Amino acid sequence: MSYFTYKESRLSAENIDLADIVKSIGTPFYCYSLSSLQDKYKALSSSYTNDNLLICYSIKANSNQSIIKCFSDLGSGADVVSIGELKRALKANIPNKKIVFSGVGKTTEEINYALEKDILMFNVESLDELKHLSVLAKNQGIKAPTAIRINPNIAAGGNAKISTGKTEDKFGISWEDAIDIYNIADSLEGIEIKGIDIHIGSQINDLDPFSKSFECILDIIKELESRNFNIDIIDIGGGIGIDYKDEGKNLNIDEYFELVQEKLGDLGKTIIIEPGRYLTAESGVLVTEIIYVKKESNKNFVIVDAGMNDFIRPTLYGAEHKILPVIENTRSNSLEPYDIVGPICETGDLFFKNLALDNPKKGDLLALLSVGAYGSVLSSNYNSRPTISEVLVKDHQSELIRDKIEIDEIVKRDKIPDWL
Ligand SMILES: Cc1ncc(COP(=O)(O)O)c(C=O)c1O
Repeated sequence: MSYFTYKESRLSAENIDLADIVKSIGTPFYCYSLSSLQDKYKALSSSYTNDNLLICYSIKANSNQSIIKCFSDLGSGADVVSIGELKRALKANIPNKKIVFSGVGKTTEEINYALEKDILMFNVESLDELKHLSVLAKNQGIKAPTAIRINPNIAAGGNAKISTGKTEDKFGISWEDAIDIYNIADSLEGIEIKGIDIHIGSQINDLDPFSKSFECILDIIKELESRNFNIDIIDIGGGIGIDYKDEGKNLNIDEYFELVQEKLGDLGKTIIIEPGRYLTAESGVLVTEIIYVKKESNKNFVIVDAGMNDFIRPTLYGAEHKILPVIENTRSNSLEPYDIVGPICETGDLFFKNLALDNPKKGDLLALLSVGAYGSVLSSNYNSRPTISEVLVKDHQSELIRDKIEIDEIVKRDKIPDWL
């Protein structure tokens, strides 16, 4: 069910008219529906019938603390990849013992902080990192709870840029070296072997790569257990795809969990999943205003006030997001194609090619759908533009959950040295 629907031709978020939010804070802004976020979490947690599942929301998808708190209130843990994400997770009430730390480049400062916070597990991605983690844990007089992230050499994901499980990708340790690495981990004083981890990519709408990756780690677990290694936790990562284009081709969650249960469910271990996109993508829209309409001899453009700096997925991944008018109109009852572009000085600043619109006008509002994941988190200040606001809606209430960072604040951060 979508919480972004038309009520008397006006697009609303739950029971709030999006055009009313525009009246109070202007455009562009991100708007999220709390009920939608909650429904997504509940749909996921109730689809798995075994009681050994821990959902660790992957904070990189949307790291606003209100969004994280929405999931922590429902029992979620967190998958973090930086000290910043770890701090946000803790501030938003995620219990330390429900936090896993992934990422290929954890720094000394980050590892020390995570050790002090006594998190559930480090997902280690290289031999160098493993040794460094051991030294830092030893210095603190403790052992670091550790899983090795396995790279199974499996292609998966909606786009080469979000595939992470091939040997040429920088992530994890090759499945062929897994046993050697666990042997080394076992010999290191600062390491406590806790689990095994895998994450093969994002926006995966096919069960097959998941199935292959589960088989890969199952083989490794069996081998490790035959050598008396203790594997309590199997972290199978994120990657669950969503239906951006309403094509009905998205992954079936029940089938996904049947597969998890069939391959890994009865081993007596905790299963961690790290969903990001699935939990947040469909719960957010980006509202933007038309600045100009430009009709050329062979092309029509609608120039909006959001740019690729605010929302980069179309530019970066060629992602297509549905765009709807915030107030429906039938001005001329004839649709014409328009490219929806932003104000940034890049040809790639393009949200949609040939969107059929009915006589759009300066001042009209448009909403880009399914932008709740990898939207605001990937924004930048390119072209010296501000960071836009984020709003959370629940029923008839709406609240700013991130203030716009005004351009003057950004401009004043630059320093000009005296000697210049
Ligand atoms: C290690 C890890 N876990 C989880 C995720 C979340 O993936 P998704 O948003 O596709 O669920 C990512 C995304 O890149 C990741 O790198």
